[in-house]
Amino acid sequence: MEKITFALPKGRLFSQSIEIFQKSGILSEDIDQNTRKLILESKDFRFLIVRSKDVPVYVESGIADIGVAGDDVLLESNPDVYKPVDLKVGYCNIVVAGKPEDKEFYFSNPSNISVATKYPKITQEYFSQKGINVKIYELYGSVELAPLVGLARFIVDIVETGTTLRENGLVVIEPIRPSTAKLIVNRISYKLKSEKVFPIIEKVEEYLGK
Ligand code: PRP
Repeated sequence: MEKITFALPKGRLFSQSIEIFQKSGILSEDIDQNTRKLILESKDFRFLIVRSKDVPVYVESGIADIGVAGDDVLLESNPDVYKPVDLKVGYCNIVVAGKPEDKEFYFSNPSNISVATKYPKITQEYFSQKGINVKIYELYGSVELAPLVGLARFIVDIVETGTTLRENGLVVIEPIRPSTAKLIVNRISYKLKSEKVFPIIEKVEEYLGK
């Protein structure tokens, strides 16, 4: 019998996802989360442990049937998948942030601004909509460094607790939108493996009180 494959992001969302699968009665076993293994197996499932940005790639391609990804990741890559359930974990906000003294400039109707980000598509769309030309510096992490050293005046990033901004003397300048984790499902798995996929969706929905 072929196992249903999940692509899960490593880190906090991984343990939160496993907890939801256990508490909703989908998964009855414990999963060893302190391992460097990239494929974990339970009786009925296979879990691929991937970078959050890579979850849509595994699900859209059908290597994984189901995945967990934040709105930030989904908006950026816009994968062709089903998004049936909001898991109501992984709460964060996608924001424009910068130095407090640059707030005035930001709201002074500038025609050009510079932004460092891990989210070039979200950034481009947001500023195009506002009619502002944006020079984007795509980074892979520690985005908060960019305004401090003058790479870009602003950043577009996710804020969860606000600690990283605070400790680096930056502030939220404008919220873009909130983000939570979604269950995403490969379109072919949704149709051809419905007898296994639907009960998973239903149990998660039931557990989350939908
Ligand atoms: C994310 C994000 C911020 C930070 C926000 O980075 O890009 O830097 O978390 O969280 P906070 O508001 O709770 O401080 P991540 O930890 O994924 O590291 P990265 O910079 O290496 O991508």
